[in-house]
Amino acid sequence: MRPSGESGPAGFRPTAKHPLAIDTDQPTRDGDFLRIENLVFGYPERTIINGVSMTFRRGAVIGLMGGSGSGKTTILKLIGGQLHPRSGRIVFDGQTVDSRDRTGLYALRRRMGMLFQFGALFTDMTVFENVAFPLREHTSLSDELIRTLVLMKLEAVGLRGAAPLRPSQMSGGMARRVALARATVLDPPLLMYDEPFAGLDPLSLGTIAALIRSLNDALGATSIMVTHDIDESLRICDYVYVLGNGGVIAGEGTPDQMRATTDPFLRQFLFGASDGPVAFHYPAEPLAEALGLASPAPPASDTRGRDVLERPR
Ligand SMILES: Nc1ncnc2c1ncn2[C@@H]1O[C@H](COP(=O)(O)OP(=O)(O)OP(=O)(O)O)[C@@H](O)[C@H]1O
Ligand SMILES: [Mg+2]
Repeated sequence: MRPSGESGPAGFRPTAKHPLAIDTDQPTRDGDFLRIENLVFGYPERTIINGVSMTFRRGAVIGLMGGSGSGKTTILKLIGGQLHPRSGRIVFDGQTVDSRDRTGLYALRRRMGMLFQFGALFTDMTVFENVAFPLREHTSLSDELIRTLVLMKLEAVGLRGAAPLRPSQMSGGMARRVALARATVLDPPLLMYDEPFAGLDPLSLGTIAALIRSLNDALGATSIMVTHDIDESLRICDYVYVLGNGGVIAGEGTPDQMRATTDPFLRQFLFGASDGPVAFHYPAEPLAEALGLASPAPPASDTRGRDVLERPR
């Protein structure tokens, strides 16, 4: 007869709690796992995020896009409590993120896996030790259990055989997969990826993208993916937010809604027209003036550029 429940073989009781299990069964609102409400953040000299609201449904992979410097990494840091908002709040599974509450933050971070933008592995540690690091830091599991968990995570990213290697002995794509294994080793309910595809060839990029989706679904997690890769983002995400100029949301929607958008800013951003609402040039004095090739008095039209480029006949 098939054993069931408490009478099952030791270690295989379906009701037994996983040693790393976290109670995530209390959604903040129906299905919302993470919520950002009217967030404002800035440095003394400049406001970066200027009234942003977003919701992140449990189980979804959400893309966060926007031009360089639009505040994507800043938003991830605010979610992780590394930065403190001027106003507004972030509610993570019913709990307001408070960067001043060190104890609360430590517990919260245990439930967030983060792949950093310049996602460095510890170069003086092996692949195995890199992935084991969060377990040693946040749990008191036995070495044997740690070994099992690390090997399982490395297996999931196809790199169990690379466990004894050092980061310097791996390609960039392999290192990124190890970083993925490390970010997910605590089975966190929230995963944040900052530019997970940067510098990868198309094949490695596809592998990482597929892993992000499958790890999310296998863990029943919620993932936020910051990326400049629009095709990949629209392929694997359930929902996308685009940050625009001035620290506000320029658009949001499902991949299908994004593809069908008629908004000029979004069309330029998503489909790469070089001209449009987003200026190519950062504001500056005219080039000719900067190079000392023309008189400083501004002309009524843009004839100055032509003066320089077209030689008098
Ligand atoms: N410590 C800091 N002090 C002052 N300004 C900062 C600081 N850190 C970041 N910024 C500014 O905040 C803005 C947003 O930075 P952020 O790193 O969030 O951009 P991003 O959208 O992630 O860009 P990228 O796509 O290039 O990574 C930038 O203009 C940046 O110069
Ligand atoms: Mg960034």
